[in-house]
Amino acid sequence: MKDKSMRSNRIQKLSRRAILSYGQPISDLMSKALANPSLISLAAGFVDQESLPCEETQEAMRRLTADESAMQQALQYGTTSGYPPLRDAILDRLKHQDQLSDDPTLNIDRMVMTAGSNQLLHLVAETLLDPGDIVPCSSPTYFVFMGTLKNLDVQAEGIESDEHGMIPEALADRLEFWRRRGELSRVKAVYVVSYYDNPRGVSLAYERRQQLVEVCHRFSVDYPIYILDDMAYRELRYENDDQPSLLHFDESRQHVISTGTFSKSFSPGIRVGWGILPESLVAAVCNQKGNIDFGSPNLNQHLMHHVIQVGLLDEHIEQIRGVYRTKLESMLEAADRWLAPLADVHWIRPDGGLYVWVELPQEVDAGLGSALFERAMEEGVLYVPGEFCFADSGVPIRKNTLRLSFGVQTPKRIAQGVEALGRAIRDVTDR
Ligand SMILES: Cc1ncc(COP(=O)(O)O)c(C=O)c1O
Repeated sequence: MKDKSMRSNRIQKLSRRAILSYGQPISDLMSKALANPSLISLAAGFVDQESLPCEETQEAMRRLTADESAMQQALQYGTTSGYPPLRDAILDRLKHQDQLSDDPTLNIDRMVMTAGSNQLLHLVAETLLDPGDIVPCSSPTYFVFMGTLKNLDVQAEGIESDEHGMIPEALADRLEFWRRRGELSRVKAVYVVSYYDNPRGVSLAYERRQQLVEVCHRFSVDYPIYILDDMAYRELRYENDDQPSLLHFDESRQHVISTGTFSKSFSPGIRVGWGILPESLVAAVCNQKGNIDFGSPNLNQHLMHHVIQVGLLDEHIEQIRGVYRTKLESMLEAADRWLAPLADVHWIRPDGGLYVWVELPQEVDAGLGSALFERAMEEGVLYVPGEFCFADSGVPIRKNTLRLSFGVQTPKRIAQGVEALGRAIRDVTDR
């Protein structure tokens, strides 16, 4: 077997980008979970299976298929930028949420529909970035996007962040550093996950939203430094009120690239995401998309349009908020019970999203293959080592961290998983 793979490595010459994509640690984690079904996986960022919107999807499909000419349209190729009535419906919703309903400059010509928001992130990265460029991001941040950057030979730079998200002064200091070195032209975008982020469940504080936009404006001297605002978890809110997105604070409406998705709020299997772009980027992003698929699946977009139009999306969001609130409570109660007695173990209590971030004593390594990771597997629980969520550059990797997801397991299994993790930590730290 080994010989065969070595032989095939010799005879094929992969692209530089393919080689840069090697070693996806998260796929290894997922195979571990699949190989051992008795393991309680608190690793996968999947959504709750039981509450997936089967009836709502059937109802929307029934409405869609009732009209033959609409159905024919949905079964045909669409346009590169996507189904206009769906873009309209999403934009209306966002403008309402962001108190921007009166802004005529925000129109659907600035929108592009994608196959999930990951595709939008990818397209923006391909449109803006060259090898050697730098993207400042919170520390820690969404590891899949860091993989995208690595694949483009772009450097992700972890900027100091706390429980209120990225620290604007830290970003400004770093941008000033590059400016002094004459390297500011390497920075074309800053990446933030502004609501209940992945991996920490942390949201960007209100005043920091404004300050980050201001910092990017200030350093946009020769050309714009965009802020890529990833709102994947905006609708998964269990406590407190919604906050305006970064677009609200960008008076020029030319600095923020907003992206969202129905993967978390409705169904990742339908995989419909979107971007709202500064006017200057629309054609360039659509050109990239044209090269890839010249339009995301049209049927799915028509379906989502019905889902929104008849109120099924809002109903579903209300329902899943209840489901996830219960799961989050179960995780936090179990943490209070099983992790709190352990010295120097802390976690963040999120208001939304799918994750709880745990910090262990400084000297404890929670990384893949570490004593704790192996012990946790023996105890029957799988987590995502926090080390994967830190950029290679900037804020140093903190190996004493881990991400727990409460999306998939039942409240009971979540509690059991946290209890098992507590046992593993206790064994390894001998406390
Ligand atoms: C922060 C963040 N952004 C974007 C995505 C992408 O979601 P999708 O491509 O399904 O829209 C995810 C998925 O987990 C995520 O965690």
